Amino acid sequence: MEIKIGFIGCGGIARAHMIRLVKIEGVKFVGMCDINKDLAKECSNIYGGNVYTDFKEMFENEKIDACYICVPPFAHIGQEEECIERNIPFFIEKPIHLNLEKAEEIAEKIDRKNLITSVGYVLRYFDIIEQLKKILEKEKIGIVRGRYYGEVPGAGKKIWLIKKNMSGGQLIEQATHTVDLMRYIVGDVKEIFAYKFEGINNKIYKEYDVEDGLTMILKFKNGIIGNLTCTWLWKGFESDIEIVGKDVIFYYKGTTIEINRGDRNEKYLSNIDPMYEEDLSFIKSIKENDPKYIKSTYKDALETFKITIKAHESIEKNRPIEL
Ligand SMILES: NC(=O)c1ccc[n+]([C@@H]2O[C@H](COP(=O)([O-])OP(=O)(O)OC[C@H]3O[C@@H](n4cnc5c(N)ncnc54)[C@H](O)[C@@H]3O)[C@@H](O)[C@H]2O)c1
Repeated sequence: MEIKIGFIGCGGIARAHMIRLVKIEGVKFVGMCDINKDLAKECSNIYGGNVYTDFKEMFENEKIDACYICVPPFAHIGQEEECIERNIPFFIEKPIHLNLEKAEEIAEKIDRKNLITSVGYVLRYFDIIEQLKKILEKEKIGIVRGRYYGEVPGAGKKIWLIKKNMSGGQLIEQATHTVDLMRYIVGDVKEIFAYKFEGINNKIYKEYDVEDGLTMILKFKNGIIGNLTCTWLWKGFESDIEIVGKDVIFYYKGTTIEINRGDRNEKYLSNIDPMYEEDLSFIKSIKENDPKYIKSTYKDALETFKITIKAHESIEKNRPIEL
């Protein structure tokens, strides 16, 4: 069965998907759209598909079975609505939007049409995460802690990432992966209290107007408590999640999970490519007209997005915010 794909956004992450999609049986690229025509052309030369700079034109001219929306957060200007209107299932990169009300409206429209959607919370597709979730079913868990430390993206040259009105800042744009995984593993969040730190990076990078770091305390609906800290003060990349239960500590980082039971340790290693699994799940779901393979739908991703937006509301109001 052939699945005709149109891409909106032909930058870094779009290409990471194209490299994988091309390996999936039946996938055909019919449209490559980017406001930067050269980028769309480059992708079209490698993978095929007609070149567009306007996504509406692409939808008018091509018969599309699935759309990949891979634009930066500030550039969600109706692509999702256009897909919904035309009943085209779509894959969308995180964060799903910058505006919570708009994202809620989109989620409602998707619901009404029962449209297949998938969001790029790629870490959910690690086999070890499923293993961990299964093991945790039998444990008594109390605390979860997440960390996302990185360097200023592109050494401050990828301007949209360091502008509040374009990316939303590190939590909304990047550390959302860790927030989402904490939710996926532990459950939904009830309440948040957050603080931010700023004043270092904005003296180094001219355009920088987001926080340097942020920490938030989380209360989950099931009573578990936790925290997440993220920062762009580091010079490499460090991200992990620790879960503490009765007589046990679970530690997730990269492709490994370690279980420390005091007197014995276990270690699980993943060898899979989670992004390939993510793309395959989306395509399989479309082929079978059944979203059962998708681990993060738009509706689910909205909950993660809400946490990151509400963390900023908590900072502004200097009080806990209930979700
Ligand atoms: N899931 C992941 O692990 C992961 C990793 C990297 C990026 N991302 C996400 O993917 C999104 C894009 O990031 P990126 O690194 O590819 O950025 P990028 O800057 O490399 O590419 C974005 C592309 O979108 C194009 N674009 C902007 N507005 C457009 C419009 N209206 N129509 C068509 N094209 C438009 C830009 O010209 C650019 O080529 C971001 O939301 C980011 O958070 C996710």
